[in-house]
Amino acid sequence: MTPPDPFPALDWTRADFPLLRRQIDGHPLTHLDSASTAPKPDCVIEAVCRFYRDHTANVHRGVHVLSEEATEAFERAREEVASFLNASPAEIIFTRNSTEGINLIAHSLDLKPHDEIILPALEHHSNFMPWRIHSRAVPIRLAPDGIPHYEDLDEHLSPQTRLVALAHVSNILGVVAPIEKWIDSAHRRGVPVLIDASQSASHVPLDVKALDCDFLVCSGHKLLGPSGVGVLYGKREKLEALSLYQVGGGMVKVHDDHQFTTQDLPWRFEAGTPNIEGVIGLGAAVAYLRRIGMNTVFRHSQALGARLVEQLRTLPGTVILADSAPLEQRIGLATFTLHAPGWGSESVARNLCDRHQILVSGGYHCAHILHHRLALEGTVRASTHVFNTPDEIDRLVAALREFTGG
Ligand SMILES: Cc1ncc(COP(=O)(O)O)c(C=O)c1O
Repeated sequence: MTPPDPFPALDWTRADFPLLRRQIDGHPLTHLDSASTAPKPDCVIEAVCRFYRDHTANVHRGVHVLSEEATEAFERAREEVASFLNASPAEIIFTRNSTEGINLIAHSLDLKPHDEIILPALEHHSNFMPWRIHSRAVPIRLAPDGIPHYEDLDEHLSPQTRLVALAHVSNILGVVAPIEKWIDSAHRRGVPVLIDASQSASHVPLDVKALDCDFLVCSGHKLLGPSGVGVLYGKREKLEALSLYQVGGGMVKVHDDHQFTTQDLPWRFEAGTPNIEGVIGLGAAVAYLRRIGMNTVFRHSQALGARLVEQLRTLPGTVILADSAPLEQRIGLATFTLHAPGWGSESVARNLCDRHQILVSGGYHCAHILHHRLALEGTVRASTHVFNTPDEIDRLVAALREFTGG
């Protein structure tokens, strides 16, 4: 991984995000919470509105002109997402979110209770709980600053291992994980790999062919797109081997008294009316990121991540998770605890908003096991996107000084 180039200025993008014009008590927002859900650019809002205004119709069903237009826009969005990930459109299944994509795989692999899924112990609930209810989740231990002992994978791979699942970028650490190594080790033992790209997809260039991952999931709402739409990528042969997840309209070719036959990929896994406007909005979001250029987006995210960590280190007693990771491996996300007696993580986050209109997350961030293992009672998380500036990081850290007194 190469060190960040000089800071790529992306502050021109701010004008594209109407939410950033919002004021609270007469003050502008400092939005540092995109890891939770990201603001939307005008082009996404307009794509969704245009669908409602000019095309509202169901897809793949109707024979009239509006349905043809809706279907064309929907499938164009699939092509856009496929290009974004370097996949083919048949390998892109639209889901509700990352969570549903992971649940789909956990269900459709026909796992047995003794089957094992290996994953780092820091995974988000959504990449942990689906494996627990269908099989045995085998968590890889964590170092004291939260970084998984990735080198432990080999000793955990066994004949019972059915899958390896891991976040490309953890929503707590904000560090790019060595997924290539894990994919290589797992494949040498014939084990497929699922990548949770929920946090990485809108910060790090992705190429599923180069990575050679078997499955990958991400969510529209963190990718500057609408909520209620997500993506499951799967290698064609892997998707074809899965059993059905949901059945109903749209995924069936023939249904008579005796049998039914299903549509080909990807529609085989898209039962019922999809989130049509969400998919079209996601297509617009991905096109927006591609116009900026994912290499530029990544360099900007790396630079903000480095600034965030370097600034947080100046606060006495602050503990930053994954502080030992090289700065160039970080995206613009840092999770930390403050030395601020009497202040819990949620009250820090609430007060940053009430006093300074700075939006961050506070709490457990859907990673209870990580917090439990590191004996942490909640953490504060700041996370950036393309529109954030170094000044906003400095504003956050100046405001945090009020709590630490340093
Ligand atoms: C790493 C990671 N995985 C999975 C998810 C779940 O995403 P969603 O709630 O959009 O399904 C999140 C959401 O925060 C996440 O950060």
